[in-house]
Amino acid sequence: MSSSTAVHVDLAERSYDILIGTGVVDRLGSVLEGRRRAAIVTQAAIPTAIVDSTRAALDDAGIAHDIVFMGDGEDHKTLATVEDLCRRFTQSGLLRSDAVVALGGGVVGDTAGFAAAVHYRGVDVVQVPTTLLAMVDSAIGGKTGVNLPEGKNLVGAFHQPVAVLADPEVLTTLSDREFRCGLGEIAKYALMGEDFVSAHTAALVARDPAVLGEIIARSAAIKAQYVAADELERTGTRAVLNYGHTLAHALETATGHALLHGEAVAIGLVFAAQLAATLERIDHHVVEHHEFLVAALGLPTSAPPGLRADDLIPIMARDKKSAGKLTFMLAGPRGIERVDDPDPAAVRKALAAIGVEG
Ligand SMILES: NC(=O)c1ccc[n+]([C@@H]2O[C@H](COP(=O)([O-])OP(=O)(O)OC[C@H]3O[C@@H](n4cnc5c(N)ncnc54)[C@H](O)[C@@H]3O)[C@@H](O)[C@H]2O)c1
Repeated sequence: MSSSTAVHVDLAERSYDILIGTGVVDRLGSVLEGRRRAAIVTQAAIPTAIVDSTRAALDDAGIAHDIVFMGDGEDHKTLATVEDLCRRFTQSGLLRSDAVVALGGGVVGDTAGFAAAVHYRGVDVVQVPTTLLAMVDSAIGGKTGVNLPEGKNLVGAFHQPVAVLADPEVLTTLSDREFRCGLGEIAKYALMGEDFVSAHTAALVARDPAVLGEIIARSAAIKAQYVAADELERTGTRAVLNYGHTLAHALETATGHALLHGEAVAIGLVFAAQLAATLERIDHHVVEHHEFLVAALGLPTSAPPGLRADDLIPIMARDKKSAGKLTFMLAGPRGIERVDDPDPAAVRKALAAIGVEG
């Protein structure tokens, strides 16, 4: 049996554990004990060894299973894919008391999670994240959904998993760029409060499995704490997790997704610190610390050339959570807080500080 660290996600109903450790997928049998059948949703790019160990865990537990492949990339995070998955669940004989296993990164987790949320009005899902971003962020917290041509993640549901199983060893096959994207979210957690990352940047970048396991567990615990405090994103507490994300979403849109999410978050974190300093909420040394940590993780600290404030500001104001205001999560004396419509000159000054043209 594998050794693992457990992080508990404490909810009013349907609390669950995030298990982190080598070989943790072996726990699938006990997590799904008593189930008859499972549908494993994955992608062709997920290494065969990862898929095989997932199948073996179900075989050992006597749980019948089918593999359901979906396409790779944001373009496949659609309602059409959800329809395809649900049809294949039905064809494979999945019943309401059975389960879906989402085996992949955030694209698989969000899409398969949403298909599970709506199939028979709700089938259980186990999230088995295989990217660093999914392990520390998207697999935790029950937000599932797909994109519309009009925008990202516009259709979805809260559907908490019955468990999250994260094995840092599976990250060895992830591309450097995708791995760094996960580091962007980890930088966010470290910059939201206690910095548990700065002392370990070299080992993290080298993908040392022991250090990775520890940092994933710390990051998952922070996400779990905010999810438990505000499961359905109603009180504003969970919105703190959007630290760095207002600009990040605008950068992704403005660059036509040439910048990946984690890279955009890294730049968004430095911008948020610049804006907080310009508004005299924090000292400049905090900005320097943001820049140091982001750079030490191999992530960009400034915007790519050619972006203009006049393009980015309207995109930020259209954010689906902002009701037409410019809304930022910013550091300050009381920690990270929501700040609405800060002085436009300060926003422009902070954008200029990260290399955005006036
Ligand atoms: N639900 C949430 O709370 C939440 C939070 C953050 C992000 N997201 C969503 O997550 C998605 C991004 O997820 P992502 O960054 O994991 O990208 P992704 O799922 O597209 O995975 C990146 C690439 O890596 C491949 N891959 C995955 N695991 C691998 C492995 N172990 N070895 C080799 N290749 C592997 C995938 O096939 C894919 O090509 C976005 O759609 C975003 O909206 C959701």
